[in-house]
Amino acid sequence: MIKRPRRLRNREVLRKMIRETRIDKAALMYPIFVQEGNQIEEEIASMKGQYRYSIDKLMYELQRVSDAGISSVMLFGIPSSKDEYASAAYADNGIIQKALREAKKEFPNLYYVTDVCLCEYTSHGHCGILRDHYVDNDTTLELLAKTALSHVEAGADMVAPSDMMDGRVLAIRNRLDSKGYVETPIMSYAVKYASAFYGPFREAAGSAPAFGDRKSYQMDFHNKKEARKEALLDVEEGSDIIMVKPALSYLDIIHEIANTVDTPIAAYSVSGEYSMVKAAAQMGYIDEAAIVGEMAVSTFRAGANVYITYFAKELAQYINEGR
Ligand code: PBG
Ligand code: ZN
Repeated sequence: MIKRPRRLRNREVLRKMIRETRIDKAALMYPIFVQEGNQIEEEIASMKGQYRYSIDKLMYELQRVSDAGISSVMLFGIPSSKDEYASAAYADNGIIQKALREAKKEFPNLYYVTDVCLCEYTSHGHCGILRDHYVDNDTTLELLAKTALSHVEAGADMVAPSDMMDGRVLAIRNRLDSKGYVETPIMSYAVKYASAFYGPFREAAGSAPAFGDRKSYQMDFHNKKEARKEALLDVEEGSDIIMVKPALSYLDIIHEIANTVDTPIAAYSVSGEYSMVKAAAQMGYIDEAAIVGEMAVSTFRAGANVYITYFAKELAQYINEGR
C-alpha cells in the first residue's frame, strides 16, 4: 500500500494541524429572550439553561456573554401586552427598544441584532396581520418596516426579519434608507422552513399561533429548489446576509445556498436542536460538549459563515479549552 489515510490520523497534533474546518468565536451569535418586569431571570421550561430576562437582569447576562468572548447577540422580545396589530412591536417604549437603549449604554462593544417579526406581539400569534384567517402579506410589510426602523432608532446594529412575508427585505431596506440608515445591514431569514424544531421557542416566547400553523408563509421542508428561489429573491431585495433555518436537519440546504448566493451565510441552530441535546445529555445518553462541537463544525463545514446558537457561550468555552 502506498496510500494510507491513517498516516494523517495517528497523532493529535497532526490531526489538529490539518483540520479543514475551524471555529472562531467571532462567528458565533447568541439569541436572548427579554421580557418586561424587574428582577426576572426565569428559566425556560422547554429550554433548560436558557432564561427570560427582564432588562436589569439582561445586563448581567450580557456581562457573561461578553466575558465568554461572544461578540454578538440576537434579541427576542416578550411584550406585556399583545393585540391584533402587534402595536408593542414598534412602540418606542417596547421591550426591545428599551432593552437596546440600556444594553448599548452598558455594553457598547457588543453587536446587537434584533429579530424582526410580529408573532410575539400579535394576540393570535401569527407573524403578520390577519385578513379573515389568512396572514395578509402586503399590509404586514408596513408594520415590519416600522418595527425594523424602531429597532434601529433604538440602537440595533443589524435587523433580522423572520416573518417570511414576500417583499419584506425591500420594504425594510427602503424604510431604513429613507431615514438615513443606509449602513445598517439586514440579515434575512431567507430560507426558513416550517419546522417542528421551533416548538420549544414558541413556549419560550409565548408565540405559538392560536389557530392553524405557519405553513402558508414558512417553507415546505420537502423543497430545495425553493430555497434557491427565496435566497436569490432576498439578495435582489438587498439582504446582506442570508440565513438558513433550522441548521441540523438542513445541512444540504446550507451547502446549496452557500454555493448559490454571494453573500455570507448564517445558520440558526434552533430551539428544538438545543432542547434535544440538553434532554439527551441530562439522561446521560450523549456527551453534550462533544455533540455541540460536532453540530457546530458540521454547520460550518456545510458552508455557514455565522452560527446562531443557544450553545454559543459553551462553544466559546470549548474553543478556549482548545477542544
Ligand atoms: C419568529 C421566530 C421564530 C424563531 C425565530 N424567530 C419562531 C417561529 O417562526 O415560529 C425560531 C427560533 C427557535 O426555534 O429557536 N418568527
Ligand atoms: Zn414570527
